[in-house]
Formats: sequence, structure tokens, C-alpha cells
Amino acid sequence: MNRFENKVVLVTGGSRNTGLDLVERFAREGAKVWTCGSTAASTAKGAAALAARGVDGVRAMPCDIADPAQVDALFDAIAREDGRLDVLVNNAANQGIGQGGPLDVAPDAMLAVLRTNVVGGFRVTQEACRRFFAKQETRGCVVFLSSNTARRAIRNRTSYCASKGAINSLVRSLALDLGPLGIRVNCCAPGYINTERWEALDPAVAARRRANCPLGREASGADVAGVVAFLVSDDAANMTGEIVTVDGGCSCQHMPADCDG
Ligand SMILES: NC(=O)c1ccc[n+]([C@@H]2O[C@H](COP(=O)([O-])OP(=O)(O)OC[C@H]3O[C@@H](n4cnc5c(N)ncnc54)[C@H](OP(=O)(O)O)[C@@H]3O)[C@@H](O)[C@H]2O)c1
Repeated sequence: MNRFENKVVLVTGGSRNTGLDLVERFAREGAKVWTCGSTAASTAKGAAALAARGVDGVRAMPCDIADPAQVDALFDAIAREDGRLDVLVNNAANQGIGQGGPLDVAPDAMLAVLRTNVVGGFRVTQEACRRFFAKQETRGCVVFLSSNTARRAIRNRTSYCASKGAINSLVRSLALDLGPLGIRVNCCAPGYINTERWEALDPAVAARRRANCPLGREASGADVAGVVAFLVSDDAANMTGEIVTVDGGCSCQHMPADCDG
């Protein structure tokens, strides 16, 4: 399928894990893809990983999305080289791992998570809309990566859960205000994804988690990328403000399997 031929796509956070799968999906479906990690080193590592997968032609430019000057520079480069943008995928995230319980979280630590996940994603979306989506004849569309933890919290991830809840509200608010401009804004909310962190789990913990997913497994990055690609495709032309969960059914259960019986 070449659904995204002649489209220009920006995927933030394409230096590792799910971001690489998102970039790969759009590139393989014909798009010109831009991506960024937060630093020059991580961005170069991501570009090398994509090249090793045979994904060529990706424009990888470092951009800390929490820094407005770096966001401006990224959009300057897109304007200079392509002069348009069709799709924005707000995938970059600060996981806020290791901040402790809610009584331990330092205000600056929480702000760092919100600055990237909420304000950073918003700022990138503003630039995409101001410079391209609202002006182009073919309007653009946006997908945010949220999480099923926005609705059902996980322990000791206060800042992260709060940021993902804010993203869900942000998506609805943006969809409402940008709909009249013809710009669609949706959200993909994964549960467990197979990443380097998943691979580092104790195998017994990974097995328990899988047993507690109704579908019996975590998502792959490709599973997530497939849903994101659908949300920005013409097949979803009448969808905006939606939060689509991709968690193997975890969120539909009241109790996990090992609590039943
Ligand atoms: N993994 C899961 O199980 C899971 C579950 C639910 C939802 N999600 C969501 O799905 C998305 C992808 O998850 P993931 O686990 O693949 O993410 P990840 O492994 O934590 O990677 C995060 C990406 O975001 C980039 N990033 C972080 N801060 C940034 C900043 N300030 N500016 C620019 N880039 C920045 C990282 O770049 P560097 O390499 O430079 O740090 C990296 O490329 C995230 O939005 C995440 O919250 C993940």
C-alpha cells in the first residue's frame, strides 16, 4: 500500500522503540518522513537503526520538543526542504520512570514530564497547524500517543499518568477548535508495548502481564503504528477527537485474570 505517497510526515521521538516502528510504517507506505530524538546522539542512533532496517530517506534532526527554539528550528528545516507537512504524530514522551510515589515526586521532576509530554506536544502541534495545516489546500492531521494509564493508573508513575490524562483532554479540545479548519486530531492510547524496557523484564513478570491481557500479549510497535496510520488515513476522514485504545483488551476487564476465581 502506498497510502502516504507525496505526503510529508513528522514523527517526534523516532530515535528508539515505538517511534522507529512509526517512522518505518510511514516510510514504507510512501511518505517522506521527518523525525527527531531529544539529542544529536540519540537522533543519530535512531537514524542508524532505521538504515539497518532498510528504511532510507528519513530526515532525522535533533529537537528537544520542550525547547521552543529547537521546535522552531525543526519547522524551519521542514519549510525550507519540503514546504509542506501533512501528518504530525506526537509520539515523543518523557516516561517519568523512577520519580517514586506521589509523596516523593519533586515539582521540577513533574514539570519536566509535563513540559515534554503536554506543552511540547502542544507546541509542535501549534507550529504544524500555524505554518502548514491551516494554510494548505489539503489540510493536515494530528495523532497524539497517549496511554491506557490515562484512564486506569499504574503505580508510582504520577507525573506520567497525569500527563497522559492531560493529552486526552488536549486532543478533545484541539479537535473541537480545529475541526472547523478541517484539521483532525485523534489519539492512540496503547497499553503494554514490546520495547527495550519490555525485553529487559524478568521473564516471569512478562508472562504474568501477558496472562493478564485478554489477547495474551503486549502490542508490538507495528500494532501501534498500524492504528496510527489508519487514524491519519482517508479511511478515518470523519473521525476527530477520538481516543483509540490498543491494549489487547486490558482496559475492558474489571479484574486481571490472576485475581479471578
Ligand atoms: N512502551 C509502552 O509500553 C507504552 C505504553 C503506553 C503508551 N506509550 C506511549 O507510546 C509512545 C512511545 O512509547 P515508547 O515506549 O516507544 O517510548 P520511549 O521508548 O520512552 O521513547 C521515547 C522517545 O521520545 C523521545 N523524547 C523524549 N523526550 C523528548 C524530548 N524532550 N524531545 C524530543 N524527543 C523526546 C526519545 O528520544 P531520546 O532517545 O532522545 O530520549 C525517544 O525517541 C510514548 O508516547 C509513550 O508514552 C508507551
